[in-house]
Amino acid sequence: MTAFENKKVFVKTYGCQMNVYDSDRMADSLATKGYSQTDDMSEADLVILNTCHIREKAAEKVYSELGRIRKVKQEKAEAGKGDMKIGIAGCVAQAEGEEIMRRAPVVDMVVGPQAYHKLPDFLDRTDRGERVVETDFPVEDKFAALPNAKKEVTRKRGVSAFLTVQEGCDKFCTFCVVPYTRGAEVSRPVAQIVDEAKRLADAGVREVNLLGQNVNAYHGVGPDGADWGLGELLFHLAKIDGLDRLRYTTSHPRDMDDALMAAHRDLDCLMPYLHLPVQSGSDKILAAMNRQHSYDDYVRLIDRIRAVRPDIALSGDFIVGFPGETEADFEDTMRIVREVTYASAFSFKYSPRPGTPAADSDEQVAEAIKSERLYRLQALLAEQQKGFNASKVGTEMTVLLERKGREPGQLVGKSPWLQAVQVDAPEELIGEIVTVTIDSMGTNSLFGTMLAKQG
Ligand code: 5AD
Ligand code: SF4
Repeated sequence: MTAFENKKVFVKTYGCQMNVYDSDRMADSLATKGYSQTDDMSEADLVILNTCHIREKAAEKVYSELGRIRKVKQEKAEAGKGDMKIGIAGCVAQAEGEEIMRRAPVVDMVVGPQAYHKLPDFLDRTDRGERVVETDFPVEDKFAALPNAKKEVTRKRGVSAFLTVQEGCDKFCTFCVVPYTRGAEVSRPVAQIVDEAKRLADAGVREVNLLGQNVNAYHGVGPDGADWGLGELLFHLAKIDGLDRLRYTTSHPRDMDDALMAAHRDLDCLMPYLHLPVQSGSDKILAAMNRQHSYDDYVRLIDRIRAVRPDIALSGDFIVGFPGETEADFEDTMRIVREVTYASAFSFKYSPRPGTPAADSDEQVAEAIKSERLYRLQALLAEQQKGFNASKVGTEMTVLLERKGREPGQLVGKSPWLQAVQVDAPEELIGEIVTVTIDSMGTNSLFGTMLAKQG
């Protein structure tokens, strides 16, 4: 068999958008070894689980999935269809590398997020019968070493793309594993990001979502040799022809600087949507979480953002039942939600993560109380989301048409505020930004009528 014989890789992605991006980059890296992606695990020569460690039962999920994969691998071998290698990537790999190798002999390699550029080399080593574990934080530049996707591959992935600009986190919120699994904050150089963004635009991508665990702490080296922040980067990317929509996620309230505010004020292509997690409304809990801001700091910041961009929609993350959270603390979270009003949000029960400071607290909140608080919070957030969607019915908005809808003749696109919008439109318009009047709303999307193409 030659190295370039057509092989297939099946990648299953868990967790955040950065993992979605990483899975594609892993596939790009494996393409240099003749691998193409498949959606059918049973025909895969290599299966990669790109894992998430942020909340509970992450490792257990991986082991039970491995049980299923082992069966598929066996069936494939029995049918005379060759071997299937198995790799574990992502944050569980980073956190539990050796343990996975010990507990799951079926795994051929465990690769932490900083080593994806070495996948082809690791595969060669597994061909020689080695089992590979790589979870160091290497100093070399992974991004510079990762190959770019072919234009057709990028095109097939859709007209809205992720682009990681920053990884890791130095904030050390006391509940969070990210500073341990992804390491210290690292920002990619501006030139490298611009190059990738231009390639995306050239392949027909219209919307780029800049990713980072702490994306607004971005501070990459600019073409002038100085450190650039996210605001400056956005102004620069806004000049790229064909990129009509920019977004970024996820942010920390401490890192909304003046240049970023100016970007929200001045750039039409920066979508009026901001994911800015607050986690809790209680000053006591915010301090225990090491968030380094208060209720008032956050609300004042939101006021400033709304002053420069009145149509901005806010999104957030919330944790209920953090150690020591009383009913009064939880009520403060409900209060901040009522005061701010969110267009969408994610909310979670606190989950103790091994190795994080809050996990050792002896003030853990009972599971039943966490469930009850989460229920109340989610009811309020759902009501706000519905209210936000309802406020768009009867209005006109631009929609980036992304893919075919469920019904024939229907396309699904995205509003500036990340809402799914369904319209009747011919397939040739996929990739176009059109003006739509919103007629009605469903549970998960808006329904509209197309007026005109924006260009
Ligand atoms: N328990 C519950 N939620 C968590 N998050 C991060 N760590 C934990 C944890 N230990 C949530 C936070 C974060 C989002 C990505 O996941 O709300 O913003
Ligand atoms: Fe985790 Fe975000 Fe806090 Fe960093 S800022 S420690 S990624 S929650």
